[in-house]
Amino acid sequence: MPKNIRLLVTRQFPADVLARCERDYTCTFNPEDTNWIGDELIGRAADHDAIFFSSGNKFTADVIAALPKSIKALSTFSVGHEHIDLTAATERGLMVMNTPGVLNEATADIAFMLLLSASRRASEANRMVRNGDWVGWTPTQMLGVGMQGKRLAILGMGGIGREVAKRGRAFGMTIHYHNRSALPDNDAKGAIYHKSADELMKVADFLSINCPMTPEMMKFLNEDRIALLPPNAIIVNTARGGLIDDEALIAALKSGRVFAAGLDVFDGEPNLHPEYCDLNNVVLLPHVGSATVETRNAMGFTALDNLDAFFDGKIPINRIS
Ligand code: DGY
Repeated sequence: MPKNIRLLVTRQFPADVLARCERDYTCTFNPEDTNWIGDELIGRAADHDAIFFSSGNKFTADVIAALPKSIKALSTFSVGHEHIDLTAATERGLMVMNTPGVLNEATADIAFMLLLSASRRASEANRMVRNGDWVGWTPTQMLGVGMQGKRLAILGMGGIGREVAKRGRAFGMTIHYHNRSALPDNDAKGAIYHKSADELMKVADFLSINCPMTPEMMKFLNEDRIALLPPNAIIVNTARGGLIDDEALIAALKSGRVFAAGLDVFDGEPNLHPEYCDLNNVVLLPHVGSATVETRNAMGFTALDNLDAFFDGKIPINRIS
């Protein structure tokens, strides 16, 4: 890899990832780890050939149009790419690449942790003990909803969804899913396909949202779809916050129509609907689906493999535009 390629590294990625950047490219780093957006992002991109960034850096059509002509490639440290206007990037002739695959297990672990925490009231129970409100064991204290024999509905049966399914099987759950198309038998492994997402809602004792965020899926889980869920449903979202209509979910959590929810992602994060924080039956995490040392390193190395391939004149396997 010629060291003279100029790479703008917008975030403080893990140390081993930054070391590889430094070894192989002429880098500009962001030691303060501030989230550059808009004019600042455009200005910082001057005199660089490529940008290595994360989902906080928004590459809207306007930003892409204003990027310096020297920029040829954008490599995101994420599988999600809703922060990049791919149409604008394609029109501009930019190579855009992401990091699918390497975060499937870690994200499925967090989805399952949320399914368990929500159904067994972990957040509420933890608060009770810490607040000194626990007066001792009782036969009916903190009763939750069991998983064994229940239906786990997976919205989006890509790599992460399939890992969630694997964990669900180990917990004795029946797996149902919706995808654009049914999986081949060796990937479905007995999971029951629902052609319509609404039909999937009707069997969702436990719902795990694992689909990409697209404009059509904005506020997918709204009042009407919540009304389709079985009583006492558990809802978990480790995909993107915009997939849920927060007002509708909060109303259902308050009324008891939905037993509990576990959320790792929020519309407009790091801001979230303030009423979530007042509810006992919701577990809230700060977008940590892929947050293990191993996974964040693998994401960084994948993003750099993508750039290396591009600058070696090859077509990167994770090309998305
Ligand atoms: C992803 O890879 O999309 C994660 O959500 C981190 O942004």
